[in-house]
Amino acid sequence: MQKKILTIKSKKNKSKIICLTAYSKNIASIIDKHCDIILVGDSLGSVLYNFSSTKTVTLDMMIEHSKSVRMGVKKSLMVVDMPHNTYRNPKEALSNAKKIISKTKCDAIKLEGGKKVLQIIKTLIKNKIPVMGHLGVLPQSATNFKFKGKETAERKIILRDSKLLEEAGVFSIVLECVESSLAKEITKTVKVPTIGIGASAYCDGQVLVTDDLIGLNKIKARFVKRYSNIEKQINDAALKFKKDVVTSKFPTKKYSY
Ligand code: KIV
Repeated sequence: MQKKILTIKSKKNKSKIICLTAYSKNIASIIDKHCDIILVGDSLGSVLYNFSSTKTVTLDMMIEHSKSVRMGVKKSLMVVDMPHNTYRNPKEALSNAKKIISKTKCDAIKLEGGKKVLQIIKTLIKNKIPVMGHLGVLPQSATNFKFKGKETAERKIILRDSKLLEEAGVFSIVLECVESSLAKEITKTVKVPTIGIGASAYCDGQVLVTDDLIGLNKIKARFVKRYSNIEKQINDAALKFKKDVVTSKFPTKKYSY
């Protein structure tokens, strides 16, 4: 198993795992030093392309964005989401995962689901492709984005799925919008790290969409904490540029040939 994956696994019960998304080289290179994992999430469909869901994100979109991100990631483990309808059976999943890895040089892939995708995950791992699991709210198949784990039956399924994913050999599991006490139970039960988004501080690590974190994306979700207001900074810079151009303060001789 590659060293970066072992490092992530070894953090369980020792130190928190930091994961952020990136869709381009410039963002990736800024956040790389602070992250353990950089995820090229298929959330790029809604965040960058205004799609109503991640279902319309294509393999080519993921590959092109990941190629850009690769140029900015030096230290972190780089994980790429397999988009919807690219892993409907083990053969399709293996061919597409190999394509993602060979074209983007990422370290691992992530896919959504539990028991339903177990054979697919086993096939990928058997072929030495590191897999990150994803349970709870599964945006590629969700009909709503309500948190998971309120009902006993649902809790049992998610807990069972987390054990199945662990047995299949995933190196970590994203828990998206999972009720706190269930996230705690899963984190205690499985030996691989859990990475939460809207799944409480009990998880072994946390992931956020960087565009949400910096205030570039206008999403209003309970699990999003905004750490900066980059929109204001871009707005102020554009406004200053406009004023300088209108008043002929830019470009001066210094900026001319
Ligand atoms: O697509 C994505 O960005 C994700 C994270 C929110 C976990 O899957």
